[in-house]
Amino acid sequence: MVDFAFLDSGTGGIPYLTYLLEKNPAASCVYIGDTANFPYGEKTHEEIVKCVLSITDRIIKSFNPRIIVIACNTMSVNTLDVLREVFPDTQFVGTVPAIKLAASVSKKRRIGLMATKATVENPYNIDLKNHFAADCELILRSDAELISFIERESFTATKEECVKAVLPAVNFFKEKGCDAMILGCTHFLNLRDLIQEVAGDELKVVDSKEGVVKRALSILNSLPDHKVEKGKPKLFVTWLSEKEKSEYDVICSRYNLEWGGMLN
Ligand code: DGL
Repeated sequence: MVDFAFLDSGTGGIPYLTYLLEKNPAASCVYIGDTANFPYGEKTHEEIVKCVLSITDRIIKSFNPRIIVIACNTMSVNTLDVLREVFPDTQFVGTVPAIKLAASVSKKRRIGLMATKATVENPYNIDLKNHFAADCELILRSDAELISFIERESFTATKEECVKAVLPAVNFFKEKGCDAMILGCTHFLNLRDLIQEVAGDELKVVDSKEGVVKRALSILNSLPDHKVEKGKPKLFVTWLSEKEKSEYDVICSRYNLEWGGMLN
């Protein structure tokens, strides 16, 4: 048994895992990137549900996690209710676009949401906007190209290459007059500091990391004590090319994770 399993389609959930370990180094964690199904953001709702149910079933059978952190906005907005219904004995923590946080920092009341196509098109955002940012204009942008760059190239890329990759999105939101920009796909958090640097002071970058980790740790604290596996968090994927293996090697050594290999 482990305390937490983090699930994303690839590298997106890593910043959430590392932040949780910063807050609670004793937590026992595994990380799963369902790379065989990347990119989730280009799939239909039905395909997303099918893939997430299948990988979640494998995660529960392999690791018996007390809590699964769905560290992926696309999976969360499409499947959280189904997951809770199908796996009632597992606790789930979802990741949704930080619309409330963006509304709290925006003076111009114009906020940008950058996410996958499947997240941008999901009605869940409209609910969030109506609840927490009713007086704001919400500007949407899906960016499959940047997500793919982050998954497949960014960890071995130069800073110049990363700047070039994030510039179109930053310029887009600036041209639309936004003063807050939500990272509504977890992959973007891997380049968060760089995106903020490129955006400058007039465009504030916000994300859901703090809220998700807080929620995950408060659920853990509410559960009765249990014996869990100790040791370095292991990182698993479901598919890998040679090129991606180099990316994941960098990730494992950078964040002190153990390579777990393929989860079949
Ligand atoms: N990281 C994921 C998210 O937060 C999606 C990336 C993808 O598979 O398209 O939405």
